[in-house]
Amino acid sequence: MSERVQFATRVGAIAASVGSAVGLGNIWRFPCEAGEHGGGAFLLIYLACVLLMGIPVIVAEFVIGRGTHRNVSGALQQLAPGKKFHWLSWMWITASLMILSFYSAVCGWIVEYLIQAASGHMSGLTLEQYHERFNAFVANPWRCSLWTVLFLLINYYVLRHGVKRGIERVANVMMPLLFIILIILSVKALTLDKAAEGIRFLFTPDFSKITPRVVIGAMGQAFFSLSLGLSCLLTYASYFNNSNRLVRSATIIAVLDTVVAVLAGIVIFPAVFTYGMTPQEGPTLVFEVLPAIFQQMTGSYVWNLLFFILLFFASLTSTISMSEISITFFSEEYKMSRNGATALNTGIAVVFGVLCALSFGVLNDLRIFGLTLFELFDFVSSNILLPAGGIFFSLFVGWYVDRRFVRDQLTNFSTVTPRVHGIIGFCMRWVAPVAITIVFLYGLFGH
Ligand code: PFF
Repeated sequence: MSERVQFATRVGAIAASVGSAVGLGNIWRFPCEAGEHGGGAFLLIYLACVLLMGIPVIVAEFVIGRGTHRNVSGALQQLAPGKKFHWLSWMWITASLMILSFYSAVCGWIVEYLIQAASGHMSGLTLEQYHERFNAFVANPWRCSLWTVLFLLINYYVLRHGVKRGIERVANVMMPLLFIILIILSVKALTLDKAAEGIRFLFTPDFSKITPRVVIGAMGQAFFSLSLGLSCLLTYASYFNNSNRLVRSATIIAVLDTVVAVLAGIVIFPAVFTYGMTPQEGPTLVFEVLPAIFQQMTGSYVWNLLFFILLFFASLTSTISMSEISITFFSEEYKMSRNGATALNTGIAVVFGVLCALSFGVLNDLRIFGLTLFELFDFVSSNILLPAGGIFFSLFVGWYVDRRFVRDQLTNFSTVTPRVHGIIGFCMRWVAPVAITIVFLYGLFGH
């Protein structure tokens, strides 16, 4: 077990984990959710979810991963020998492949828009025309499929190079660039005429807007955005070395992930208000409204290009992390070579990713429970499998795993003084599982 690969540096380990967390969830989904659910009120509930459920579940996954240095199935076999918990791994493998599939369909759109932006074909249209263009594009089976496959091949290429030379290196380059681009874009947004209105919308909590639906939306968003409940952070933690402080790393990841989501809001809302749009645009915000806004600014070419590079970096570091779950699983449990496992992961994602991409056009009539394949994968993974995984990890580490093992992981074998561990432990045992269960059941049956 000791020759198992590890991240080369602690910064690299954090960069990779932040890369996993920061993705479409922050830049695409957070502003839409905040826009739909009343801005500041949503942000406040979101922060509570991150603190009370997010950080404890990240720590739970870290304890399992770093403590065993194995894939999710191997880790559960080691911590609960002779028990059947490890069969749950199939749930996470399935969920990770589902998310990878629908996520890659959106990444395909990003590739298209990135190419359009780079070649200068993004400017000069009205909002109406951007809308028509987007609809025509997602309905075109060839283009969507092609870009989805291309994106997955890039993903494959990085993963083939392994943990240090692939995952860590890409994260070390892309994460700092991502922050720089985001800061440039937010400074620009803050200089717009109605910036204050946008910022007020994002930060002023309107408590009358807080309904059970908002709470469910915020929790789902926190899980998705922090890559929780899927054994993704568990898998990355299995590459951490023993000097990595788990609670501190979990906090850094949660803080940076939230900062990116808020910065994305700071980029988007001032622009939305300045150019007279409404914040409740839904998913088309990024692909229709923003290009329409950018094109009214001077230097629209640069703003468009920077924005789609940002989305590309954010999404690639996330798809890499969700792929790694099944790659480690197949290579360790089924003794496949890393290349073989990576090819298998990519092959499955290509098939289902293309099907998801087509569900906006030719396969739109293919409905399961009234949902397209894209919607079904999104719903089942984000609303059912991720929360279920979160409940399991917090209960498993909070109640089942040997106390000493957990303490050794939290204190790095008594070399770190425990400070907030009591609170984390309490949230892991009680607050997170109870809160996730209530919200989860309400989300499924409460309508
Ligand atoms: N956290 C990513 C985002 O915000 O886009 C999505 C994600 C990545 C979910 C990895 C789950 C995962 F395992």
